[in-house]
Amino acid sequence: MSPQGRAPLDVLVLAAGRGTRMRSRRAKVLHDMAGRPLLQYVLEAARALRPERLTVVVGHQARAVRAAADGLADRFVLQDEPRGTGHAVLRAARALRREADVLILSGDVPLVRPRTLRALVAHHRRQGAALTVLTAELERPAGYGRIVRDGDGRVCTIVEERDATPEQRAIREVNTGIYVARVAALLGALRRLKPDNRQGEYYLTDALHELARQGALVCAVRHDDPEEVQGVNTRAELAQAARRLYARKAESLQNEGVTVLDPGRTWVDPRARIGRDTILYPGVILEGATVLGEGCVIYPGVRIVDSVLGKGVVVRDHTLIAQSRIADGARVGPFAHLRPGSELGREVHIGNFVELKMARLGRGAKANHLAYLGDAEVGAGSNIGAGTITCNYDGKRKHRTVLGRRVFIGSDTQLVAPVRVGDGAYVGAGSTVTQDVPAGALALSRSPQVNIRGWVARRKRKRARRAASSRTSRAAKSKP
Ligand code: UD1
Ligand code: CA
Repeated sequence: MSPQGRAPLDVLVLAAGRGTRMRSRRAKVLHDMAGRPLLQYVLEAARALRPERLTVVVGHQARAVRAAADGLADRFVLQDEPRGTGHAVLRAARALRREADVLILSGDVPLVRPRTLRALVAHHRRQGAALTVLTAELERPAGYGRIVRDGDGRVCTIVEERDATPEQRAIREVNTGIYVARVAALLGALRRLKPDNRQGEYYLTDALHELARQGALVCAVRHDDPEEVQGVNTRAELAQAARRLYARKAESLQNEGVTVLDPGRTWVDPRARIGRDTILYPGVILEGATVLGEGCVIYPGVRIVDSVLGKGVVVRDHTLIAQSRIADGARVGPFAHLRPGSELGREVHIGNFVELKMARLGRGAKANHLAYLGDAEVGAGSNIGAGTITCNYDGKRKHRTVLGRRVFIGSDTQLVAPVRVGDGAYVGAGSTVTQDVPAGALALSRSPQVNIRGWVARRKRKRARRAASSRTSRAAKSKP
C-alpha cells in the first residue's frame, strides 16, 4: 500500500476548448446528446466517485459552459485562451490540493462509466504511480494521441497524430485523455513544458513524457471497451456516441423485461423508466424523465416527452405526448397530440387528429376523431364527437370549458369558453355553444333545417329557358 492510499481525490474536467471540428457556433461540450449537454455526462460520471472537489476549466463560451455544469461542479477556473490541455491544467493549479490525486477528464468523452474511473484510480494508488493514463486499442486510431511504449512495455511518451512519425501512427493503442496523477508531481512536470509541436500548444500529454524522463513511475491501464472512452470531436462522432448511449439504455431495458423490438431505432433517454412487458416498436422516442408503466404498447413513430403513463396504456403510431399524465388502460392515437398539462383518466380514448392542451379527461371519456380540447375539463364517461372544438381563446385571454360526467357532445360542435355543460347533458351536432347547458338538457344552436320540395326540377327548367333566350339574341346580333 502506498502512502497515497489515503490521498484525497480532486477531479478536473477540461472544457475550455472551442471544438473546431464540430464547425459550430456552440462550444462542443454544450452539444446535446439525448437531451443533455455532453459535459453533464462527464460530470455525472465523475460525481459518482464522490470527489472532494470537482473543478471545471472553462474558456470558450465560459458563461454557457458554467451554466451547463451548474449543480454538478464545485468550482470553475477560467482559461482565457485555449493554449492546450497542459495549459488548461496549469490554469487550475491553485484549485488543486498539493497532497491530492487528481483525476483529469475531458468534457468531450461522455460515455465513460464511473466503474472505469474508479478502477483507474485504484490501480494508480495500488502502484503508487506519479501518473496513470487510461488507454484503449482502437481499430481506427486516427485523431488520437498514440501510446508509445519502451522495450520493456512501459509507456514512455504520447505522440499526437499530427506530430507522429508514420511508424507511430501505426500504433493502435491511444490516449483516452483520462488520467490520474499526483498533483505535486504533475504540476512540476507541466511547469517545464514548452509548446514545441505542430499546434504550438502546451500538451498535457507531454507531462507524461517529462515524468517518465525524470524516472517517476508512469502507468498505462488499457481499457477493454474502446467505445466507452471515445471522444466526440465531430458531428459524426456525436451521432455515434448518442447511438451507443441509446444502445446501452435499450440493453438495460431488455434486461429488465421490456421488449425493444429494434434497439437501433428506439431512443430512450437514460433517465426514463419503463415497466416490464411494455413493448416499444421501432422509431419510438422517449425523452426526459418519462415513466411508462407495465404492459404498455408504444407503436412506431411515437415521441413522449417528460410524461407519465400508467399500466397497459396503448399509444398508436405517430403520436406526440409532452408533459402529460395518462392513467392505466388509456388508448391514444394514431396521430394524436397531447400538449403540456394534459391528463387522461383510466381507459380514456383519444383518437386520430385529436389535440389536447391543458385538458383533463375523466375515466372512460372519449374523443375519438378530429377534435381540439384546450383548457378543458371533461367528466368521466363523456363522449366528444368528431370535429368538436373548444374555442378557448378570445384573442386576449384563455378561458375554460367544463363538461360534466356522461356528457354527449355531437359532432362539429364549438364550445365557446368560458362555458359549462352539466352532467348527462347533450349538445346536438353542429351547435355553437355560447351559454352554459344545464344538467340533463339538450342544447341545440344550429338553424333549423328547411326542405323546399321540387326545387331541383324548377331550377333545371329555369336554366333551360335562360339558355334558349340567349341563343336567339346571339343569332339576331350575328345577322349582317
Ligand atoms: C486529446 C489528447 C489526445 C487524446 C484525446 C482523447 C492532448 C494534447 N491530446 O486530444 O492525446 O488521444 O484527447 O480524447 O491532450 N481543452 C481545454 N483547453 C485547451 C484545449 C483543450 O480545456 O486549451 C479541453 C477541450 O475542451 C476538451 C479536452 O480539453 O474537452 C480535449 O481537447 P481536444 O482539443 O478535444 O483534444 P484532442 O485533440 O481530442
Ligand atoms: Ca477530444
